[in-house]
Amino acid sequence: MRAVVFTAEGEMSLQERPTPEPGFKEILIETAAVGICGTDTHVFDGEFEGTVFPLVPGHEATGTIVALGEGVNDGVFDFAVGDHVAINPSTTCGECEFCLNGHQNLCPQWNGLGVVASDGASQQFFVAPSRNVYKLKPDTDLYQAALIEPLACAIRGWDVLPRRLGDHVLVYGAGTMGLLMAQLAGRAGAATVSIVDLNESRLDVAAECGIQNRFTSADDAERAKWDVVIDCTGNIRAIEDALTRVKPAGFFQDFGVAPADRTAQYSPFRVYRDEISIVGTMAVLNSFGRAVELFEAGAINATAMISHSFTLDDYADALAMFRAGTGRKLQIRPNDTQSRVLIA
Ligand SMILES: NC(=O)c1ccc[n+]([C@@H]2O[C@H](COP(=O)([O-])OP(=O)(O)OC[C@H]3O[C@@H](n4cnc5c(N)ncnc54)[C@H](O)[C@@H]3O)[C@@H](O)[C@H]2O)c1
Ligand SMILES: [Zn+2]
Ligand SMILES: [Zn+2]
Repeated sequence: MRAVVFTAEGEMSLQERPTPEPGFKEILIETAAVGICGTDTHVFDGEFEGTVFPLVPGHEATGTIVALGEGVNDGVFDFAVGDHVAINPSTTCGECEFCLNGHQNLCPQWNGLGVVASDGASQQFFVAPSRNVYKLKPDTDLYQAALIEPLACAIRGWDVLPRRLGDHVLVYGAGTMGLLMAQLAGRAGAATVSIVDLNESRLDVAAECGIQNRFTSADDAERAKWDVVIDCTGNIRAIEDALTRVKPAGFFQDFGVAPADRTAQYSPFRVYRDEISIVGTMAVLNSFGRAVELFEAGAINATAMISHSFTLDDYADALAMFRAGTGRKLQIRPNDTQSRVLIA
């Protein structure tokens, strides 16, 4: 079978490899789709903490079960060959202070398939621990369902924000994550949802996803302050601007990943005087199952969000297109024979 391999920092190749075998309590999956996101560029550039090369990238995956390892169905699971599945890429030690206190996403041995030290899904077949595999309904679109992993991150993001009926919510960044946070805002109780992006074409996608208020600058918005302001850009200027838009008693969330060595300015006096809460959120935490359910309940407009699919041969083109900020969500379909434009 064929696999994209990040062989070293900044280097990749398409390799012929033996199809992996599922071990004890592992499942072999034929890959349907795997989303590309900023994390893949950080892994490729050697900027992601802990990545061990060579590594097959790809952590936003779906597929079909082709083989079960020993012991998979001995406990609570009931998996069968042919099941359609989505995969939670995070694995943790289960023994440290954070794992035992319900913060597995902060485990010092946190390992993401395709991100740290285990191969991901940018290959025709891949293996995942059965506890990371989630069954989908047979009629769920396996390509669109590759949005379940980022949706699970967005649900975790909302888990650490207030979910009050009637709040006004402002999101910075209308990329995949901003669009997901904004689409969930209504379910979290928001009266209005606004989104800011410098890239107007991204605001068009937001419109298709039903986000009412869209701006290239928050200065143009219908209000000056919001109860909840979420940064989904990781851009320092956006973060500094976003913090000034939070209403007293409101929340600001650092959802976007800023460069590790950068700092942002804010007024500690205002945070004190206005009782502003600043919260972080990191990846998936006990939210993958809910992401499957919300996705299958139609909580997000997946059709509007995915614009291009690429074969394994065209992986480098997909990464370059992601960096250029063109298109919407881009995905790899390792068993497809042709790259496709889904939305021009
Ligand atoms: N916290 C988590 O668990 C988690 C999970 C996934 C992704 N992320 C992070 O979330 C961020 C967004 O991810 P994405 O996949 O949507 O990325 P993306 O690149 O597709 O979207 C970012 C958007 O922000 C816009 N933008 C950039 N600078 C801006 C500015 N100054 N003002 C307004 N808009 C601006 C861009 O035009 C783009 O549309 C990234 O930093 C990513 O690493 C965090
Ligand atoms: Zn991702
Ligand atoms: Zn741990």
